[in-house]
Amino acid sequence: MSRIAYVNGRYLPFGEAHVHVEDRGYQLGDGVYEVCEIRDGALVDERRHFERLSRSLAALRIVPPLSSEPLRFVVAETVRRNRVREGLVYVQITRGVARRDHGFPERSPKAALVVTVRALDRAKIDASARTGISVITVPDDRWGRVDIKTIGLLPNVLARQAAKEAGAKDAWFVDDEGFVTEGASSNAWIVKDGILRTRESSSRILTGITMMVVKELAADLQIKVDLRAFTVEEVRAADEAFLTSATQTVMPVVRIDGSAVGSGRPGPLTTRLREAFYRKAELGRSIT
Ligand code: PDD
Repeated sequence: MSRIAYVNGRYLPFGEAHVHVEDRGYQLGDGVYEVCEIRDGALVDERRHFERLSRSLAALRIVPPLSSEPLRFVVAETVRRNRVREGLVYVQITRGVARRDHGFPERSPKAALVVTVRALDRAKIDASARTGISVITVPDDRWGRVDIKTIGLLPNVLARQAAKEAGAKDAWFVDDEGFVTEGASSNAWIVKDGILRTRESSSRILTGITMMVVKELAADLQIKVDLRAFTVEEVRAADEAFLTSATQTVMPVVRIDGSAVGSGRPGPLTTRLREAFYRKAELGRSIT
């Protein structure tokens, strides 16, 4: 079955799904996106993903191409037409098509909306979670507003590629003071003496939806969360480490820059949070 993409009002087979050469997303990275998990044919934490999308759009002063309800309908319909029950839905909104010029176009074009869906190999992700993954560290050379989920992801792309070339699964960014900010497409956590530690929300990280859910889950399980940045040295000395994202939920990190974290195997608190995650996540109605 061919994959279907929604592009500016039309549901199209991938081969025919194109955007204009002067789309400001393509030319200037002038746009935002969201990635939401599909589980058992339903969206996971849809409400919070759409809220963050609205915040990202407002931060860039992009007028949404559709209001909330029609947008949710389009996303659900794209998932339905792709018949994906386990996967991801990707929503991208750019400022639209205009003659290339850095400043905002004088007459606002209609924002461009693309929605794509892809299946996820859950067995493969679960297999990674059983062994845990390795990360490398890279200097955080991103811009100062990474709290906005923009499509300008070049430093993240280069970081992930560096990880791949080093035989690791992911890269963690480290700021000028030596503190881990976050992963290339995830939030970073450690566990020390039974306490979870992750960086406080600020313009230096993207506040992950998964991170928000894990914080609430930890409160339910009476596990303390310390909202404080940590150094790479502290990761090495930690009992456990993990990352969170919509694509991997809670993923154990067992090596950093080649050194083992804790026992070098997924730790008990990480495993408990991974197993309990869907108890706290908001599962929508089944679409497919
Ligand atoms: N990325 N930090 C960054 C830089 C991210 O790109 C992401 C998510 C996160 C975690 O956010 P959430 O828990 O809401 O997925 C943190 C998505 C999955 C991506 O770009 O594919």
